[in-house]
Amino acid sequence: MGSRAPTIALCVALATFVAACATENYRQYSPPVPEGADNSGGGAIGLPRANSDYGTEDVAAWGPPSAAAFPPDAGDQYSADPVARGRYLAVAGDCRSCHTNPGGQDFAGARPIRTPFGIIYSANITPDPKTGIGQWTEADFYRALHKGIAHGGKNLYPVFPYTYFTRMSRADVDAVWTYLQTLAPTYQVKPRNQLPFPLNIRFVLKLWNALFFKPGEFRSNPAMSAEWNRGAYIVWGPGHCGACHTRKNFLGADRNSHALQGGTLDNWVALDLTGDPRRGLADWSPGDIVEYLGSGRNARAAASGSMQEVVYESTSRMSDSDLAAIATYLKTLPPRGRPKGMRPPSEAAMRAGQAIYVDTCAACHGQNGEGQPRYFPPLAGDTAVQANDPTTTLRIILEGSRSVPTPAKPSTPAMPMFANKLSDEEVASVATYVRNAWGNAAPEVSAHSSAKMRHKVMTRTNLPSER
Ligand code: HEC
Ligand code: HEC
Ligand code: HEC
Repeated sequence: MGSRAPTIALCVALATFVAACATENYRQYSPPVPEGADNSGGGAIGLPRANSDYGTEDVAAWGPPSAAAFPPDAGDQYSADPVARGRYLAVAGDCRSCHTNPGGQDFAGARPIRTPFGIIYSANITPDPKTGIGQWTEADFYRALHKGIAHGGKNLYPVFPYTYFTRMSRADVDAVWTYLQTLAPTYQVKPRNQLPFPLNIRFVLKLWNALFFKPGEFRSNPAMSAEWNRGAYIVWGPGHCGACHTRKNFLGADRNSHALQGGTLDNWVALDLTGDPRRGLADWSPGDIVEYLGSGRNARAAASGSMQEVVYESTSRMSDSDLAAIATYLKTLPPRGRPKGMRPPSEAAMRAGQAIYVDTCAACHGQNGEGQPRYFPPLAGDTAVQANDPTTTLRIILEGSRSVPTPAKPSTPAMPMFANKLSDEEVASVATYVRNAWGNAAPEVSAHSSAKMRHKVMTRTNLPSER
């Protein structure tokens, strides 16, 4: 007992040191958060966060391959064949997307993943004995997913979402293992992570785990239906939805009191998934959720940003019953508290914004923001537009966007970029307008925020016009 106090003191001291260094490094290459941005959450050590992609142009950007390249059969959760089950769970866990470098071999890793602290490369999880997991045992693999510890005992960075995979059952993890064993072994060395001292020392992760991580498989709640429990298992286990949809604390761990209420990463806002009436899914029926996850679009919204990759690689290949289970679970999440008193936008900004809207946007999004369902998303009542943090709205206006193709909806309606057509004042006022017209409400956007987002967008090399 007596030896615990010094250990805890050491942990706290080191954690503070890590935080200080991390913040320092973050500042070196990231401009401050745009004004008015609700960005108090961080990114996990490892999880990308708003602004974090600034200045790391060499990092690969994901874009959906052509619809024709859609890979085969996702497997089946209820198959007696563990390989088919494992393949399905690997889809639910989105393993392939992080573990495949665009242009590289599936599951051979080496994909650079941006974090606020530096770049972490995914590992080779093909059965190659030298560079993959060929020398691992099934027990090693379970320990990696359950505890974040690799073969040989080194701790893994939580950008690998073991903080969620820990909730997967042993049988499910074993099935994924069995599936990965069937892949062709690929020789692919994992590049060195680009992290500053002391984050490059994996020992630091032991402290992080001691502070923020409790391993444990999912336990179902007997008071709820089997479908609800299945949904909760996917959301909190293999699906790791909270990795993006939950804000982080200053050391990059999930803020559990804000679970699934939305987070910001990589210049996208991962929206509130609770029943919040304005920002969340209160108005969405379970069918709306299933349609969105299954096809990337529904009458209310179209998936942009990192959600496109999730839809493409993972949710659009899940079974309808699993999507229905996710919807059942999400529909029981209570709304967060009332939004803080919000000042209405200035009339001048609204008038200027309206004029621009009618000229440049209404042809697609409708005079009253009603959109064209499943083609041009409605902006009236839209959750992305009304997020406190205007990151997504500004980014889409400046950079444009193209919908994700899925087998159910293979066309890809696009929005042009406006960075070259609208000034920062104009972008800010049209953003303010769409955030506050037709019953919408969200804080006014400043020209300053637009200028900052423009700088970030323009210094990236993967503008859609260049793809
Ligand atoms: C968000 C991105 C992401 C997702 C999703 C992801 N991984 Fe990873 N994974 C990583 C990264 C990054 C590393 C390397 C971490 C490090 O360097 O500590 C890693 C490491 C691993 C390792 C350790 C390998 C080694 O040689 O040390 C295993 C095993 C693994 N992942 C399996 C999986 C499986 C199975 C899934 C799907 C159920 C999955 N990962 C999903 C990013 C991801
Ligand atoms: C890699 C990060 C990431 C992960 C993992 C992720 N999401 Fe998302 N999600 C996003 C982003 C970003 C958006 C906002 C997309 C937009 O603005 O169009 C989003 C949007 C959504 C929306 C639409 C919300 C709205 O109001 O329009 C739903 C529903 C959703 N996600 C569900 C899920 C579920 C369920 C999971 C887990 C199976 C999940 N997401 C995992 C990043 C993620
Ligand atoms: C040519 C048609 C077109 C025009 C013009 C257009 N948009 Fe869009 N807009 C789209 C499409 C298509 C999407 C969906 C893109 C996607 O799925 O990523 C979209 C998405 C959006 C979104 C994100 C909605 C969400 O739920 O994620 C916002 C905000 C937006 N547009 C605002 C504007 C504003 C403001 C203008 C005028 C300055 C404008 N759009 C002009 C077609 C258009």
